[in-house]
Amino acid sequence: MRVLGIETSCDETGVAIIDQHQGLLAHAVYSQATIHAEFGGVVPELASRDHIRKTTPMIRQVMEQGGLKPKDISGICYTAGPGLIGALLVGASIARSLAWAWQIPALSIHHMEGHLLAPMLESPSPTFPFIALLVSGGHTLLVGVQAIGRYQVLGNSLDDAVGEAFDKTAKLLGLGYPGGPALAKLASQGKSGKYHFPRPMTDRPGLDFSFSGLKTFVHNTLKQAPRDFATKAAIARAFEEAVVDTLTIKCKRALAETQHKRLVISGGVSANQRLRQSLRSMATQLGVKVFYPRLEFCTDNGAMIAYAGLVRLLAGQHDELEIRARPRWALTELPTVDSVQLQI
Ligand code: KG4
Ligand code: ZN
Repeated sequence: MRVLGIETSCDETGVAIIDQHQGLLAHAVYSQATIHAEFGGVVPELASRDHIRKTTPMIRQVMEQGGLKPKDISGICYTAGPGLIGALLVGASIARSLAWAWQIPALSIHHMEGHLLAPMLESPSPTFPFIALLVSGGHTLLVGVQAIGRYQVLGNSLDDAVGEAFDKTAKLLGLGYPGGPALAKLASQGKSGKYHFPRPMTDRPGLDFSFSGLKTFVHNTLKQAPRDFATKAAIARAFEEAVVDTLTIKCKRALAETQHKRLVISGGVSANQRLRQSLRSMATQLGVKVFYPRLEFCTDNGAMIAYAGLVRLLAGQHDELEIRARPRWALTELPTVDSVQLQI
């Protein structure tokens, strides 16, 4: 089976083709970052319009890259949510129409399941069960994963997602959009220990997160601090350390509670090097193995959607003749797939 995957939930257009036996045949990602940069965040209408411009030419491009014709594709999968409704509708309409024209099945995919399964594209890939930390612009989730579709949400964000906290704090520090990578770069040049921010919700039991208070802490600190480069870098460093510590403490807690021996980290913020380092050293102490997607598949991409789609299509799932877009969609609503685990 060979599957075309399409991702248009936010500000990246991602297209990929995956083969059941040969793995990833071709993929492409286009980031709209420069379009949204002047507004300091994603403008939904501009995102939708750009997905319209990019998606079809990118499908043509990856088909050519893979040397494939429509008859070589056996199914089309697309991100149906969660995400921006207009952006989702673009990918959903194109995917569903193409599948109808090519007379093949279409399947709607949950964006966070895409992130959760992205490390399956690497070698070695994780086996079940595992704990997944999903850290993106829209979500901070700790998930107990028994199998594909058997997801137990152990911890969730009560306010800002961790990527959102990075982006908003970067804005306070006068950095461009997207803020996460820019803040991480500034933090790497900052002195540790000059400022100390709290590790939210680590002083009580539970696995939920709250990051909006940290941003306020940065705001208040900035009001009283000199605006020189060294000060801003030290504040960025203190913010990053607080976030990384918090995520590490909660992952450690989830691993202790479940006794799982594998930890998967995915989503845009999993590209953060300090987070990777901290989780790796915590996991080594516990004898836990850590799995990440390659850097380019940490942020939004079509390959993770193609993989999730391939597994589900192989299990016999597909949609009716409908265009599905769900801006809000709980990970726990997905059907289970017990029999397939593809190691590509
Ligand atoms: O998964 P993703 O591409 O999109 C969503 O599904 O939201 O994640 C994007 C988020 C943004 O908030 C971005 O600032 C953050 O991931 N991000 C990072 C880094 N790279 C991307 N945050 C911290 N450090 C990074 N290196
Ligand atoms: Zn994402």
